[in-house]
Amino acid sequence: MKHNCPTLVDLFSDERDGGFLGAVETRQNCGFTCRRVYYIHGELEGKERGCHGHKRLEQFLVVLKGQVEITLEGATGVHTFVIKDTSQGLYIPAGYWRVLDKMTNDTVVMVMASDPYDEDDYLRDYDEFKLWLADQSKVSGVSYLNFDRMHYDLRFDLDCAHDAVMESCHYINGPHLSQFENDFAKYCQGQYCVGVANGLQALEIILRGWGVTTGDEVIVAENSYIATVLAVSAVGAKPVLAKMDEKTFSIDASAIESMITEKTKAIALTHLYGIPAQMEKIVDIAKRHNIKVLEDSAQAHGATIEGQPVGSMGDAGAFSFYPTKNLGAYGDGGAIVTNDSNLAEFARKYRDYGQSQKYKNDIIGTNSRLDELQAAFLTAKLKRLEGWNKKRRQLAEIYCRELADISGLCLPEFYENSQPVWHVFAVRVVNKKRDALQRHLHSKGVGTNIHYPIPVDQQECYAELKGLYNTACSAKWGQEVLSLPLDPYHTEAEIEFVCKHVREFF
Ligand SMILES: Cc1ncc(COP(=O)(O)O)c(C=O)c1O
Repeated sequence: MKHNCPTLVDLFSDERDGGFLGAVETRQNCGFTCRRVYYIHGELEGKERGCHGHKRLEQFLVVLKGQVEITLEGATGVHTFVIKDTSQGLYIPAGYWRVLDKMTNDTVVMVMASDPYDEDDYLRDYDEFKLWLADQSKVSGVSYLNFDRMHYDLRFDLDCAHDAVMESCHYINGPHLSQFENDFAKYCQGQYCVGVANGLQALEIILRGWGVTTGDEVIVAENSYIATVLAVSAVGAKPVLAKMDEKTFSIDASAIESMITEKTKAIALTHLYGIPAQMEKIVDIAKRHNIKVLEDSAQAHGATIEGQPVGSMGDAGAFSFYPTKNLGAYGDGGAIVTNDSNLAEFARKYRDYGQSQKYKNDIIGTNSRLDELQAAFLTAKLKRLEGWNKKRRQLAEIYCRELADISGLCLPEFYENSQPVWHVFAVRVVNKKRDALQRHLHSKGVGTNIHYPIPVDQQECYAELKGLYNTACSAKWGQEVLSLPLDPYHTEAEIEFVCKHVREFF
C-alpha cells in the first residue's frame, strides 16, 4: 500500500515456542520496493541520531530492540512517534527532517530504504532543509510533461507488475495481456479489446478487418495526426480530407455527408486532444449511408459523451499507448475496442501471423502483438487513469478561468454533453503572435508544443492530396495552435505560473 504522509503500520508478529517471530512484508507494508537495509545501534543513550532529510528516498523503520522517539518535519507539519516494539513500523516519506531520540544503549533500529545510498539525496543541514522545503512549493519553470514525477509515483506498482511477468516466465500472449484486454474493454464499455503493437496498427487492422482496400475511400479530418491518414494509405485506400470542427478540433460532422461517394467505406474520426467529436451526428450519417465509423481514440482514453466512453460508440475504436498518452506504456502499444465479434476475431488472428492456433495460419497476418510486460504495466496504470483524467480536468479549468478574457487567444471548447480528458490543452493564438508567445514562455522556463505544425496535405509524402480538398482551416491552425503544459503531475501553482506568463505576454 502506498502512503502519502508519515504512517505507523501494523506488522506481523507471532508468539512461537516461547519467543516471537516478526516480519515486514515489504510490498504490503512499506509501499515501496526495498533496495537497501541498514541498522542503527551502539552507544545511543542520551544521543540524537538521524538529524537529516532526504529529497527522494522513502524509508521504513522498525525498532528491533529497545525504544525510540522519532520526530518528523515536512510538508504535512511535525509528527512525533514513540516505538517500543516490533508490532509496528514507521513509513517515512521523502522530504521529512527526522530526529531519533530517547533511545537506550540496547536499542537496535532497522531502516529499509527505497534506493541505494546516494549522497546527493541527503539534506544534512537543518537550515538547508528548510530552504529546500520552501523551494518545493515555489515554481521557477514548468516542463511540458512530468515523466520523472510519474515514474517516481508509479515505481512500486511497476516493480510489482514487472516481477509478476518475470515470475510467470510468459512474455507474449499470456495472462497479463488477457487481463489488460478484459480490464480495458470494461473501462471503455466495449465487448472486446485486442491489444496490438501501436495505435497506427490498431487503425490499420480495423480497416483491414472491414475489408477496406484499394479503390475505397475513407473520410478523415483534415487536421488529424498523420497516423489516421497513414492507416488509410496502408490498406491501399484513399484518404478524403473533411473540414475540421473549429469548436472541438475533431471532424466537422456537417462537412461529412457531402464527401460521401459510392466508394466511401468508413469515417475515421479523431477525438483530437482528448475532446470528443460529435458522435451522435456522425453515427447517424454513417448508418444512413451504410458505412463504418472508426474512432481514433489515441488521445482520448476515458473521454465520454453522456457517460459513454469514446472508442465504444462507433463500430470500432483504436487506441495508442505511446508513452505520452493519457494511458501510456513504456514503449509502444495499442488496442482495438469493438462490439463486433468478427472484427475482434480477425484482429486476434491478424496480429499473430494470421494464426488461429499455433502453426495453423488461416489468413495472411503480421506480427503486431502487445507484449506481456507492456500489458502488465498498462494494467497497473489503468487503475490510476480516472484519477489522472480528473486532475487534467481540474488543471484545464484553471486555464479556462485564468485565460478566458484575453483577446487574441482562443481557448478550446467542447460540446456540453461531453467530458474531455485534455490529452493536450491547445489554444489558438491569433494575429501571428503564436511564435512570439512560445518564445516568451520558453524564456520563462515553460515548455510548450505544437500539435501539429504541418497539416497532412502539406506534407511531402501526401503531395497527391495537395489542392484536392479545402483545408484552409488546418493550414491556419498549424500557424496558430499552441499546446500549453498539462499533465496530471503538474501542480495548480505550476498551471497558474503558466497563466501568469501568458497574461504578461498579452
Ligand atoms: C490521433 C492519433 N492517432 C494515432 C496515433 C498513432 O499511435 P502510435 O504512435 O501508437 O502508433 C497517434 C499517436 O500519436 C495519435 O495521436
